[in-house]
Amino acid sequence: METPSCQCRPSYDDCKKTAEWLLAQIKQRPKVAIICGSGLGGLADLIDDKIVFPYKDIPDFPTSTVAGHAGQLVFGKLQGRDCVCMKGRFHFYEGYSLHTVTYPVRVFFLLGVETLIVTNAAGGLNGSYNVGDIMLIKDHINLPGFGGQSPLVGHNDDRFGVRFPCMSDAYDRNLRALAIQAAHEENCGSFLQEGVYCMVGGPTYETIAESNMLQKFGADAVGMSTVPEVVTARHCGLRVLGLSLITNKAVTDYDSNEKANHEEVLATTNVRAGDLQRLVRNLVTKV
Ligand code: HPA
Repeated sequence: METPSCQCRPSYDDCKKTAEWLLAQIKQRPKVAIICGSGLGGLADLIDDKIVFPYKDIPDFPTSTVAGHAGQLVFGKLQGRDCVCMKGRFHFYEGYSLHTVTYPVRVFFLLGVETLIVTNAAGGLNGSYNVGDIMLIKDHINLPGFGGQSPLVGHNDDRFGVRFPCMSDAYDRNLRALAIQAAHEENCGSFLQEGVYCMVGGPTYETIAESNMLQKFGADAVGMSTVPEVVTARHCGLRVLGLSLITNKAVTDYDSNEKANHEEVLATTNVRAGDLQRLVRNLVTKV
């Protein structure tokens, strides 16, 4: 008789072991966790009274491989608020399973975190977006999920959440209102957008046909991360806010000579990282 393939690793007990190890090292009990996208790890440098754990030193934590991702868990205070920041995240395209990609989120939940802020770099699909815009994520399209690649596939442990979690309220409305307020206070209002993020598996950038298809699906931006972490966070009841930095325009025209590339993504990130950091730092005080 067929039984489901064992996809219950890392288990609740594995996550708990990591969380308990961290709790034994630190006095802080952060309620806010921040996941920094490609080149956006500078946010962690704004943290005061830092306690830094390289991923390799944390029991059972995966380690990060892509350029622009440092691989540190940073605890401390942002504007006086306790928080924990992932400097460097794990991507499906690096070869990690989605269970591994989302392991830190479950550890955050077991640390007592209640709010997750995620940032990423994304390609703009919406024709009215400019490179350098910051998009508040209103909703997402989980394209890998359509094909059965979800971090929640396999045994469901009810201690994390229900078997069939709702996703129609994935991005918290109140947090989005606070983020809009924070953006205006930090003079980011003129390049703030609100839209739908679509996750693709990567590591290839999209073909022209794919970008056109995603536009027709209703996506405003496309990227290779974030959605698994958000799905996992919502499963265990965390409130979520997502911000995409539009680092390039997805190519949708066969006559275009533009080519998406990682160098452009990192260059745009460098230009706007400061704005995004101030926005998040301001937001943390309002959460
Ligand atoms: N496509 C997918 N992921 C990305 C892009 C893109 O154009 N830009 C930054 N991350």
